[in-house]
Amino acid sequence: MSKRKITIAIDGYSSCGKSTIARDIAARMHYNYVDTGAMYRAVTLYCLRNGLINGKELDLEGLIDELDQVFIEFNFNQETLASEILLNGENVEQYIRQMDVNDWVSQVSAVGEVRRKMVKIQQELGKGKGIAMDGRDIGTTVFPDAELKLFMTADINIRAQRRIDELESKQIAASFEEVKENLIQRDFEDMNRIESPLRKAQDAIILDNSNLTQPQQLEFALNLIQQLL
Ligand code: DC
Repeated sequence: MSKRKITIAIDGYSSCGKSTIARDIAARMHYNYVDTGAMYRAVTLYCLRNGLINGKELDLEGLIDELDQVFIEFNFNQETLASEILLNGENVEQYIRQMDVNDWVSQVSAVGEVRRKMVKIQQELGKGKGIAMDGRDIGTTVFPDAELKLFMTADINIRAQRRIDELESKQIAASFEEVKENLIQRDFEDMNRIESPLRKAQDAIILDNSNLTQPQQLEFALNLIQQLL
């Protein structure tokens, strides 16, 4: 295997398996894996915990004011071999997939100040290459020069069922319709926000995984990587 390391940017719609493929690629290539959605989720959790979301409103000014008190970092757990997100030093992995976070994360991640802060951290994490990073704007904004860009998509019903399965595995209850509606709403908000909206980078390769198994997707990506190395 070549010693040359590349940057792998994985973008796409919600619940398309971006994190799964990014994690699989990183494990196979001995690369770092960064789930940028977890970072926006952690900022959203901060807002929920600190009274910046009241009823139906996000306190935008309050969030911008407090942003320099929000520290987001990753810790690699040697036991589980997973990277865990830390919010001000606390491992918040188990809280960031809950429905209240799902309901607010698109609004929080649309805030320019939040995005600029997260993008800076992401660029720092990836500056040595050898990274697989997934999100919505990785190939367009964070690493526009990434050697490999994938844009993931899948049938909405399959995506909703996958999210339900993921939630169930974490003992979080939610109905199919509620989850599907949230995915549609989040995709809409992610695609229509002003700051780095979700869109396919021109040079990204589309991967529709509606009918692909996890090993098939990994093989598809590894073939592309082989061609680049
Ligand atoms: O990948 P995810 O579903 O965990 O992401 C949660 C939300 O964060 C998603 O609705 C959009 C936002 N997000 C973003 O705006 N930019 C990223 N790079 C990653 C996620």
